[in-house]
Amino acid sequence: MSESRAGAGTLFERTCRGIRGPRPPVWIMRQAGRYLPEYRKIRERVDFLTATKTPEIAARITLQPVERFPLDAAILFSDIMTPLEGMGVELDFAPGPILQEPVRSLETIRGLRPLDPDEGVPFVLETLGIVRAELRRDVSLIGFAGAPFTLFCYLVQGGGSKDFADARAFLRQEPDTAAELLQLLGTSMGRYLVAQARAGADALMLFDSWAGLLGPETYRSFVLPVVEDIVRAIRAEVDRPLIYFAHGGATLLPDIRGLDVDVVGIDWTLPLSRAVRDLGENAVVQGNLDPAALFAPRRALAASVDEVLEEGAAAAAHVFNLGHGIHRTTDPDQVAFMLDHIRERSLQSVTR
Ligand code: CP3
Repeated sequence: MSESRAGAGTLFERTCRGIRGPRPPVWIMRQAGRYLPEYRKIRERVDFLTATKTPEIAARITLQPVERFPLDAAILFSDIMTPLEGMGVELDFAPGPILQEPVRSLETIRGLRPLDPDEGVPFVLETLGIVRAELRRDVSLIGFAGAPFTLFCYLVQGGGSKDFADARAFLRQEPDTAAELLQLLGTSMGRYLVAQARAGADALMLFDSWAGLLGPETYRSFVLPVVEDIVRAIRAEVDRPLIYFAHGGATLLPDIRGLDVDVVGIDWTLPLSRAVRDLGENAVVQGNLDPAALFAPRRALAASVDEVLEEGAAAAAHVFNLGHGIHRTTDPDQVAFMLDHIRERSLQSVTR
């Protein structure tokens, strides 16, 4: 067992496992990215794909937010679509993912290879190794993957979309072909996350950014079983806290409750106490400040942060985060203020 996991682990890892510490640990979805001038500086000379595939650069970008802010976790700088290249998908970013050819036939699907992480994404594994070696021991490193349905959305649609109408139509029109693609993605992302843990990730997160487009019926029949496969594959191989985040997934929580994950991410549309009602009082939740709250004057921002902290008290334990990715025009000073405020507030409640 490596040093970072000896004993009880970091504040972030203990909280993920349901042990409340003196304050909720904090990290920010999309914390490495365009709202940071130091990120934009690197991106002036390298494009996004090159940055994700060059371990020294990806490692630098991963470390940027934790060097600037007192965060409890770093998240690998990569994209949910990155491993798909290793499966034979041709991909570009502008700035969101675009496919050369949407995946819409059994023939195309059977032409894809299940991911072999050592061959398909060696640069990701190397990045994790570099970051873990440079990161302070009390800061955790999060590895991640896109959940099968979210990857399916981009693959079938051929790029980003508001509602992924073509992808959802494909699910109904060709359910067996769709299920085969979802399964291939499930097997591949399971292996990908296990490889990330072995390469240095202290915790793992599955982003199901578009699961909220589905009703509970469809989610249960097409999506939940492949997510369960991934969770099982990870549990069989490595011991790491596992976070599942279904953006827009408020109506799916009664089903998500049955998943064997450590933490459930909640977006900002649902108060955490209401999420706990659906997930059960033993649930550990992550979230869920509205990213737009970072644009409010400080007093209003502080009040919104307090509300999230109070709501989080309803859960067995709470990892503070935004309810979705930080917006790219966010002022980094507002982030610093938010982080100070969380620490101050938690200290007050300990000494009160
Ligand atoms: O800091 C971090 O969170 C780690 C890095 C990270 C990126 N993408 C970097 C990125 C992570 C975890 C992701 C996940 C991701 N990518 C998701 C799931 C999380 C979510 O937001 O729901 C999704 C749906 C994508 C797909 C994607 N990639 C989109 C829609 C876009 C364009 C819009 C945007 O937010 O920038 C990307 C590109 C992307 N991924 C950028 C970054 C830093 C911007 C690239 C640039 O610098 O121009």
